Amino acid sequence: MLPEGFITVAYLIAGVLFILSLAGLSKQETAMRGNVFGMIGMVLAFLVTIAAAKGLNVPVLSGCIIVGAVIGSVLAVRVQMTSMPQLVAILHSFVGLAAVLVGFATYLDPESHLTGAAAIIHSVEIFAGVFIGAITFTGSVIAWGKLQGVIGSRPLILPGRHLLNVAAILGSAVLGYLFIGAEGHTGVQLLIIMTVIAGLIGIHMVMAIGGADMPVVVSMLNSYSGWAAAAAGFMLSNDLLIITGALVGSSGAILSYIMCEAMNRSFISVILGGFGTSSGATPVPGGEAGEVTSLRVDEVADLLVHAKNVIVVPGYGMAVAQAQYPLYEVAKCLKALDINVRFAIHPVAGRLPGHMNVLLAEAKVPYDLVLEMEEINKDFPETDVVMVIGANDIVNPGAYDDPNSPIYGMPVLEVWNAKQTVVMKRGMASGYAGVDNPLFYRENNDMLFGDAKENVLAILSSLNGA
Ligand code: TAP
Repeated sequence: MLPEGFITVAYLIAGVLFILSLAGLSKQETAMRGNVFGMIGMVLAFLVTIAAAKGLNVPVLSGCIIVGAVIGSVLAVRVQMTSMPQLVAILHSFVGLAAVLVGFATYLDPESHLTGAAAIIHSVEIFAGVFIGAITFTGSVIAWGKLQGVIGSRPLILPGRHLLNVAAILGSAVLGYLFIGAEGHTGVQLLIIMTVIAGLIGIHMVMAIGGADMPVVVSMLNSYSGWAAAAAGFMLSNDLLIITGALVGSSGAILSYIMCEAMNRSFISVILGGFGTSSGATPVPGGEAGEVTSLRVDEVADLLVHAKNVIVVPGYGMAVAQAQYPLYEVAKCLKALDINVRFAIHPVAGRLPGHMNVLLAEAKVPYDLVLEMEEINKDFPETDVVMVIGANDIVNPGAYDDPNSPIYGMPVLEVWNAKQTVVMKRGMASGYAGVDNPLFYRENNDMLFGDAKENVLAILSSLNGA
């Protein structure tokens, strides 16, 4: 048995490593280091928790660890970058389920003999932990189903859905009151009924949210899974689980908030659901609609080779077309001609947090060429050519000029300040927000129609032939 002081110090070190891990993950250059800190912290936490536990069945525990480690490693190696949200969602469901099981096990523990205020506090911890855990479990399973395409991504809008949610929450509160007053283990039925109700809240809440808002929902469920883990930490009197749960819970909440801010949506409007009922494929005509001019591939290549400063703006269409690899080849060709090429990243470009950063890193684009919106917006007036690849909403000037636009107020990349913009997309379809983009009709803009990857490859051959 390990001395108490040793366990406390080990948990403290693991907690500090988790904080360093989060700090590292906030920047691309330090993300690897952040991951390593997190892994060391987790191994330390894991070993100390096992060494400190009383009455362990070592063979059963070892068997579980080996099976879990094999399944986890195979999944992590096999998963495609595009399927990462599904994997994260299903992993959150495990945290939720674990909190529910820990809650029931703690409540039914025959060795627990708490009385008075300690018993009340313990009952509240159990009830809250099981409630959050059940919502996280079913909500994450539904989020996984929607992202995997097993469940339709359209929002399910039941009549009186807000009333249903309020009734379910009030019903759970009444059950909680009765549960806290229940003698011995007699409250188990109340706990089971509440678990079913909380599970239904989780299903209903995520079913009402459209597929396009799923990234925010996954990040929100990440936050819930953290609070569920913290609640489990209280139930098990494990300080490290409380610290880790609080870190996950608050970082998930902050990420959800940042994503909502960057999309100019309120967090409440995302949670209340219903957004994304329309497909978003038909543009809502903007006041500025007019002539659209287009260029051929060789004309775009010609513009690029005669520029001094070029900025590339990737968006969701680049991810769909997987154009990042030839795109970096084009950038290398231009660099070889002494042209200053940089990439501009909008915080919600694509459909995942850091979507473009990950794709560009995959294609081995050096980090110093990749700049965030706040860093690069001031440089557009000195830029000769901006290549917008499969991006739409994130370069929409309507976000500044059109108070009626649903994205009015959203910070965007101010590409129209450059001398010339070239927008590469297949047609005139709108993006995620379903609005027309006045940029396409500006005098200093030309379109290059077609699939992003095919066009980038064609530009590359044109540059190589030049
Ligand atoms: P969008 O505004 O969605 O525009 C993407 C454009 O790519 C479409 O207009 C489409 O036009 C084009 N496209 C699709 N496939 C293509 C292909 N194979 N080749 C060339 N073009 C293709 O994307 P964005 O500018 O990246 O903005 C992201 C949007 O998603 C924002 O509104 C944001 O709020 C929202 N959102 C982001 C997140 C996160 S966390 N990133 C989460 C949820 C929602 P065509 O069909 O005409 O080709």
